[in-house]
Amino acid sequence: MPIELYRQGSHLCLMFSNLTQEDGEAVQSNQFLLVHGATGAILDPGGNLAYNELYLGLTRHMPPHKLAAILASHADPDIIASLDRWMTATTAPVYISRIWERFAPHFCKPGKTVGRIIGLPDAGARLRLGQGEADGFELWALPAHFLHAEGNFQFYDPVSRILFSGDLGASLGADLQPGQTVTRLAGHIRHMEGFHRRYMVSNKVLRLWAAMVRELDIAMIVPQHGAPLAGAAVPDFIAWVEGLACGIDLMSASHYRLPA
Ligand SMILES: [Fe+2]
Ligand SMILES: [Fe+2]
Repeated sequence: MPIELYRQGSHLCLMFSNLTQEDGEAVQSNQFLLVHGATGAILDPGGNLAYNELYLGLTRHMPPHKLAAILASHADPDIIASLDRWMTATTAPVYISRIWERFAPHFCKPGKTVGRIIGLPDAGARLRLGQGEADGFELWALPAHFLHAEGNFQFYDPVSRILFSGDLGASLGADLQPGQTVTRLAGHIRHMEGFHRRYMVSNKVLRLWAAMVRELDIAMIVPQHGAPLAGAAVPDFIAWVEGLACGIDLMSASHYRLPA
């Protein structure tokens, strides 16, 4: 069953978190369905492991042809490896960084994505999705380049005030419950630290990101792996990554030696 992150009026945010298991062969990941009136969007729909459940979840809320958008934070396999199937099952366009626009079609059979991919510029955009008074809604694509992919976006929903943060904020671990929202960061850092040190590119980018998102009113930061962050964990997470050395900060000549 999906987790309801937000429900108010005709606006609903659902998280599917158990389509892949942490102790299985594939990393646990979250997929998202945003419903607004008679339409909506899927966000980081994932790979083929996640497709069936998410598709079923979608059909419970709208006819698939009503889907307004498929949003991809970046082009990793756990983000959009199922793209071919979504191209067949819906008529929605895919929003992805311009720098992945011509790479994403490799997930699909030839011709499947023609005219369906909308490349997001580096600066991001306030996307208008759906149509009309009742079904129109806004989602903001925020620049999050190098966190971790070179062309990387996070999606902010101004209605629920949820920041869908992609791989940033991810938590991993067999004893972790993705369905349990974290409000105290201290005990949660052990689930995040190793991942962020290796997968995030540099502290400089984290600091730029922190300055940007402090301008937003954020109720929840919801990552693509692991548990959502809310309450005090939101500002605490922003402060934690702002001071985190990661990626190229930690690389030295010792990491670039010919293997013995
Ligand atoms: Fe990724
Ligand atoms: Fe990921």
